[in-house]
Amino acid sequence: MFELTPYLEQQRRWINSELDRHLPDDHTRPESLHTAMRYCMFSGGKRIRPILGLAAQALFKEPTDETLLPLLAVEAFHTYTLVHDDLPSMDDDDLRRGQPTAHIAFGEALAILAGDALLTLAFEWMAQCAAPPPWLPGQYGLELAEAGGHRGIIAGQVEDLRATADSAGADDLVEFIHLHKTAALIRAAVRIGAMAGGADHDAVEALTLYGCKLGLAFQVTDDLLDETGSTQEMGKPAGSDRRHHKCTYVAVHGVDATRRRAATLIDEAVAALAPLPRTAVLEALARHVLDRTH
Ligand code: IPE
Ligand code: IPE
Ligand code: MG
Ligand code: MG
Ligand code: MG
Repeated sequence: MFELTPYLEQQRRWINSELDRHLPDDHTRPESLHTAMRYCMFSGGKRIRPILGLAAQALFKEPTDETLLPLLAVEAFHTYTLVHDDLPSMDDDDLRRGQPTAHIAFGEALAILAGDALLTLAFEWMAQCAAPPPWLPGQYGLELAEAGGHRGIIAGQVEDLRATADSAGADDLVEFIHLHKTAALIRAAVRIGAMAGGADHDAVEALTLYGCKLGLAFQVTDDLLDETGSTQEMGKPAGSDRRHHKCTYVAVHGVDATRRRAATLIDEAVAALAPLPRTAVLEALARHVLDRTH
């Protein structure tokens, strides 16, 4: 039987050692910048995006160090979004992954610049890998730009900053925010992983739906954890959304409806895998999103 916990640990070890190999060392000049970049990257993230990408890839081909690189780029990009998300002008949070956020540890200017550097490095890594046919050689960069830019995460973050649960059309708004700020990058990780494994258009389409549903469920459970979880377990401040009157799924629909929606979304993610072979790992990863405590 497939055991998720050792699988997750093994994938995290591999991802972390490859990140360590690819990131500039912290003695690179200017040391403050490279120390901050490494601090942000190695503060203990779950690595769920590259893990999902690897599991999608493994449906078609055994992943290698080389085909992991575009997924490391997704993780570097994700880390930049967290550094900027925590800034005083955004969510103003002081704890991330159990440690002081980058602007608390290094000051606001260096935190912004370390985030900028991780974002740029993500595109550098993408440019070093070509997607196999039938995809464009530069497809990975396009995927990241679409998910992370003005049509994706940034659109979601802009709406997240202005919205509250009392905003007009809050139920539509919260879907828009969550699809853009979170589901877009998770979907891209799954797509990029599958492409790197040589998946064709039909397979990538099925996995896109899986990634989208799972990505939405991931943010819905993040909202739930913010309301019901502990700072200790999450490594980030519980109740931050409530304090900032955020337009979260919980604020708009309440805790019970939020739990039900997360479960339905995960069922939909699993159903999307029906046309694909050997999907036990992707199924287990989807179910794991519902049980997570951080
Ligand atoms: C946090 O993402 C931001 C959201 C999209 C909810 P993760 O929960 O994946 O954060 P890390 O990388 O494990 O710290
Ligand atoms: C974060 O949403 C999404 C991005 C960082 C793009 P949240 O603001 O809910 O994430 P946390 O709770 O700070 O991790
Ligand atoms: Mg936020
Ligand atoms: Mg936040
Ligand atoms: Mg949150």
